[in-house]
Amino acid sequence: MKKKILFLFALFPILSIAEPLGLPKLPVPSDNPQTPEKIALGDRLFNDIRFSSTGKVSCATCHAPDKAFTDSPLPVSVGINNLTGTRNAPTVLNAAYNQTQFWDGRSPDLEDQAQHPFLNPVEMGLATHQPILKVIAKDKKYQKAFRKVFGVSSKKITMEHVLKAIAAFERTQISGNSPFDHYYFSGKENALNAQEKRGFEVFLNEGRCVSCHTIEQDNALFTDHKFHNIGIGVNELGEKIEPLAKSFLVAKSKGADVDIAVLTQPNTSHLGRFAVNNQLSDLGGFKTPTLRNIALTAPYMHDGSLQTLRDVVVHYNNGGALDKNQPITPYLSGGIRPLNLSEQQIDDLVSFMESLTSPEIKNQTKTTNQEHGS
Ligand code: HEC
Ligand code: HEC
Repeated sequence: MKKKILFLFALFPILSIAEPLGLPKLPVPSDNPQTPEKIALGDRLFNDIRFSSTGKVSCATCHAPDKAFTDSPLPVSVGINNLTGTRNAPTVLNAAYNQTQFWDGRSPDLEDQAQHPFLNPVEMGLATHQPILKVIAKDKKYQKAFRKVFGVSSKKITMEHVLKAIAAFERTQISGNSPFDHYYFSGKENALNAQEKRGFEVFLNEGRCVSCHTIEQDNALFTDHKFHNIGIGVNELGEKIEPLAKSFLVAKSKGADVDIAVLTQPNTSHLGRFAVNNQLSDLGGFKTPTLRNIALTAPYMHDGSLQTLRDVVVHYNNGGALDKNQPITPYLSGGIRPLNLSEQQIDDLVSFMESLTSPEIKNQTKTTNQEHGS
């Protein structure tokens, strides 16, 4: 029995590593198993600036390891030739657990997601994936790595291999083990201070944050993987939203590329999940994002329109608007309504969110943006 287990560990060294405290079992697709060589190859591809039309932008430009895999403090991402997109770069940390990728869930998994930025005109700006395969075909180190990982000669390397390696690398970027995890999952009373504990109570009760940013019995991803309209972007659009939605459907029926449309047209971006599934009930709906390492990734929301965690809580406290007097969209999700939190409770909630930072991510983060609070 013992011998058999040792044998299995030797065969699957990566799989035998336990997930950090607070995270569920890592889902790995059966047709793309994790191996150390594949992960190293994916790391190199993720950082290769030659895979952009200007030779200056890589995945890591917008998902920088020293910025918790975002481009904080930019509100929206900047790609080739300083072109700006419409959306705030979500972290790649723990994206391996997402049931869909992108703010609007238009991509099913990491392998599929990775093909899009190369071709987006405001991201890496290539017309086709061919130039990527050309760079690889001329690079001896890449050829050797692809042969070792996938058993293919340089002529047989395809985008499918490239995307699989990138996804395998991304699956190693998982982070838990925060003060909150020690408090909640290991029962270490002192892992949170009094203010953070009060904030946790608000998160669970008066704030009702946990109804969307969910916590399970033995792990927490802080997302229900669903889409909700919480009043970001859509409030400003007001009555323009219906004609906008209608004209987008027409453009889509004529073949408009959804990935390009939502990242190049700010108003179209605010249509959210609707742009993907054409459901009016999803107008302005966005995927509930994780809250892990949130203190490191300001500004916030799909359009980067809220500067601080305090602004975020005030937005919720007002029932879906930072400015109390702003008219709120009729498409707002049922779960969003005024909370009547006190100033103290608002501060406490911010403190609680700051306890969701993983120590190793904090250590590798260059602090250009100041942390808030205490
Ligand atoms: C120019 C900046 C930029 C570049 C380059 C870029 N991304 Fe992103 N990334 C973004 C933005 C912005 C989004 C959100 C877009 C959306 O939701 O519509 C995003 C979304 C993602 C997501 C989804 C995360 C989630 O929580 O849904 C993943 C994963 C990701 N990018 C990985 C990559 C990979 C892999 C590459 C390289 C092949 C890459 N990105 C290149 C800016 C960038
Ligand atoms: C009805 C579901 C729902 C509830 C309730 C909810 N959220 Fe959210 N949260 C979301 C969605 C959806 C987004 C993204 C919205 C967007 O970008 O348009 C979000 C975004 C955030 C963000 C920004 C994340 C980022 O990466 O930019 C923070 C922080 C946040 N919520 C904290 C909270 C707190 C604190 C509460 C409780 C006061 C709360 N949320 C209640 C669904 C919810």
